[in-house]
Amino acid sequence: MSVNDFPTGARPSPPGVPLPKVTMPALGEMKRQGKPISALTAYDYATARLVDEAGVDLILVGDSLAMVILGHENTLAVTVDEMLHHTRAVRRSVHRALVVADMPFGSYHGTVADGLTKAVRFIKEAGAEAVKVEGPRIELVRALTDAEIPVVGHLGLTPQSVHRMGGYRVQGRTSEAIRRIKADAIALGEAGAGAIVLEGIPREVAAEITAALTIPTIGIGAGPDCDGQILVFHDLVNLTFAPQPKFVRRYADASALFRSAIERYREDVEHRAFPSDAESYHLPRGERKMVQVELDEVDAIVNRDAWEELNQA
Ligand code: KIV
Repeated sequence: MSVNDFPTGARPSPPGVPLPKVTMPALGEMKRQGKPISALTAYDYATARLVDEAGVDLILVGDSLAMVILGHENTLAVTVDEMLHHTRAVRRSVHRALVVADMPFGSYHGTVADGLTKAVRFIKEAGAEAVKVEGPRIELVRALTDAEIPVVGHLGLTPQSVHRMGGYRVQGRTSEAIRRIKADAIALGEAGAGAIVLEGIPREVAAEITAALTIPTIGIGAGPDCDGQILVFHDLVNLTFAPQPKFVRRYADASALFRSAIERYREDVEHRAFPSDAESYHLPRGERKMVQVELDEVDAIVNRDAWEELNQA
């Protein structure tokens, strides 16, 4: 067996899931070969399975789940334990895509040692293959890399900084801000980040950063010149109940689809049109008669006891 044959730990792929397994180094190779990287968020077994089987390269268990799954106003409230719970569910269905877990707000904003401990939990307890951290956390990224934990950086509009930014605003619009984001991206790459999400920055800025880096950039609201693109799954299929930002392209209307299915189900139940006889379990023919006789006997006993009770009263 050569070094190249050494198993990577990927589980066997079911039919229909193209291999090989996507790894962090594979994303770097895609950049070198000019192959666009596709990425999507997913938070549960079923959607992650669909995303993986569709051949998407990277699945992010994003802290956006705080909003689209848990109904919070922003991403700040979600906890490490909640993120671990969803990462485990995603991990169970994914065979090919790289599974990246978002470290939630507060889990890496203290000491580097504490951030490292939390990141280890995502790898060890939930099966994530990389973690994502927002902002220029250079020291932390270096420590994670030293600890063999692949890291995805995240710059530009970083939703965990919503209060500092004063809302979700496009970043990198002044020359000072552009210089800062570019320097941070280069520093993250030098510290060992395997890829960087660029969110909510002008196309021109994302293009310049992408050209300056050897690691891939994955854009969201950052134009088409990044090495890859990511969207929130619920935006893609219209399940957010909120106005969509300009960068979202809606590929399906799951709200309409689900609404109609749910309404038809309710109507069928109300009209006794569901379930039908064909959707019911039946006793074997021979036993039906016997059971009927037994039921009739039970009825008779119940009626007799009720009659006696009535007469004694
Ligand atoms: O949490 C998330 O979904 C993200 C993406 C928007 C990149 O961080």
